[in-house]
Amino acid sequence: MSVSLVILAAGMGTRMNSDMPKVLHHVAASPLLHHAMLAGQSLSPDRTVVVVGHGAEQVGKAAKAFDEGAVIVVQDEQKGTAHAVAQAAPLLADASGDVIILYGDTPFIRPETLAAMHVARKKHAIVVLGFHAADPGRYGRLIASGDTLEKIVEFKDASDAERAVTLCNSGVICADAKALFDLVSAVEPNNAASEYYLTDIVQIARSRGLSSGIVLCPEAETMGVNTRAQLADAEREFQKRARAEALENGVTLTAPDTVFFAIDTVVGRDAIIGPNVVFGPGVTIESGAEIRAFCHLEGCHISRGATVGPFARLRPGAELAEDVHVGNFVEIKNAILDEGVKVGHLTYIGDADIGEHTNIGAGTVTCNYDGVMKHRTTIGKRAFIGSDTMLVAPVKIGDGALTASGSVITEDVPAEAVAIARAEQIVKAGLATKLLERLRAIKAKKGK
Ligand code: UD1
Ligand code: CA
Repeated sequence: MSVSLVILAAGMGTRMNSDMPKVLHHVAASPLLHHAMLAGQSLSPDRTVVVVGHGAEQVGKAAKAFDEGAVIVVQDEQKGTAHAVAQAAPLLADASGDVIILYGDTPFIRPETLAAMHVARKKHAIVVLGFHAADPGRYGRLIASGDTLEKIVEFKDASDAERAVTLCNSGVICADAKALFDLVSAVEPNNAASEYYLTDIVQIARSRGLSSGIVLCPEAETMGVNTRAQLADAEREFQKRARAEALENGVTLTAPDTVFFAIDTVVGRDAIIGPNVVFGPGVTIESGAEIRAFCHLEGCHISRGATVGPFARLRPGAELAEDVHVGNFVEIKNAILDEGVKVGHLTYIGDADIGEHTNIGAGTVTCNYDGVMKHRTTIGKRAFIGSDTMLVAPVKIGDGALTASGSVITEDVPAEAVAIARAEQIVKAGLATKLLERLRAIKAKKGK
C-alpha cells in the first residue's frame, strides 16, 4: 500500500526566542526538519507535502534541499493542526493508501515505528502514535478502551480525570488518505483555543463508524523541540544514540562522549575515531581508517587505511584514497588525493588533484583564489612538493617532478623536472661578525 507524507512545519516556535524558524535549528548538523523528513523517507513515500507558514520561503527551501521532489504548501495563518493538514488536501486529492502526518519539530521518530503504524492501519482507519509520559504536562491525552482509541482530549479542554491520564498523543498520525481529508474537513474550532484540532478526527471518525487504534513508542522518540534547552537535550540524545550505534558497529571511539556525529555520518568497521572529533554533514569513513584527535570533517570521504589528524580539517569535496596520510594543521577542500599521498603538516590544499604517492611538504599552499575566481592545481604521481611551496593556480606539476622549498610556482612544471622559484642564496664570508660589531658600537655610543 502506498504512503504519502504530510509534514507540519508552519509554526513559529516562539519559545526558541529566535529570528529563525524553529524547524531550521540544527541537531546533528542538520535542520530539525530534515530529521523528520528522513524518518518519513524510510517508507518510500509517493509524495511528501511540507506545510510551511512562518519563514515560509526559508523553510520551503530547506525542505527542497533535502528532497527536491517535496511539495511545499503555505498555510498563511496558523489556525491549528487540522487546518494545517487541510492545506495539503488539494495536493493529495488523488492519493490512495495511507497518509502519515509528522511534525517538523519532532526529530526522533524511528522508521520502525512508522512501519508499525502502517501495519496497524489494516485494523483501523486512523492510527495514532502514543506514549506514556513521565510528566504528561500539556500533551493531548489518549482516551482508550482496550486497544481502541475513543478520543483525544487536549490538555486545555480536559477534565481532571482526563488530565490524570498519562497516555499521551505524540502528534504522529497514520490514516487512510481519503478518510483523513474527509474527516479533517469536518473539524470545527469548538474548543478552548478556538483552533482546528487534528486530534478531533478521532471522535468524528467514531461517530461515522470508523475505528482508531494506538501504536506505542518510548517517550524519548516523540521528544519535541520547543526551547533552546530542548534543542540541547535533543542534540545530547542524538549523540548518545549515534555513539552507541558506532560502538555497536565495531568502530573504536577512544572517548565516545567527545565525538559529535552528523545525521548522516557513516563510519566503517574497525575505523578508529580519537577524542574530540566533530563531523559535519556528508562524511563517509571506510573500514580501518583512523581519525586522530581534534579533527573537524564535513562533506568528505576517507578510504581504508587512511589516517587523518590530529588537528586536521577536511571540508566538502575532500576525497582521500587508500592509505593517504593527512597530518596536523592541514586543511583540505574540494580535492582528490590518490592512494598513498602524504600531506603531513601545516598545509592548505584546495581545488586540487594529487596523484598517487605524492608527498606534499610542510607549509605548502595551493593559492586557488585570485580574489574573483577559483582555480585548480593538478599534481602528478610520485611528485615531491618542497616545504613552503606556493602553488599559484591554475598550475600543473607533472609526474615525478620536484619543487624546491620556498618556491612560488606560477608556471607548469613538466614531469620529472625540478622547479626552483626563489631568490638565489648569496653567502658572504665573515660578514655576520662585522655587522654585529658595527651594531654594538652604535648601541654603545647611544648609551652614553
Ligand atoms: C499537538 C497535539 C497534542 C499533542 C502534541 C504533541 C493537536 C490539537 N494537539 O499539540 O495532542 O500531544 O501536539 O507534541 O494537534 N502546526 C502547523 N500549523 C498550525 C498549527 C501547528 O503547521 O496551524 C505545526 C507546528 O508547527 C508543530 C505541529 O504542527 O510542528 C504541532 O503544533 P503545536 O501547536 O505545537 O501543537 P501542540 O499544541 O503542541
Ligand atoms: Ca508542540
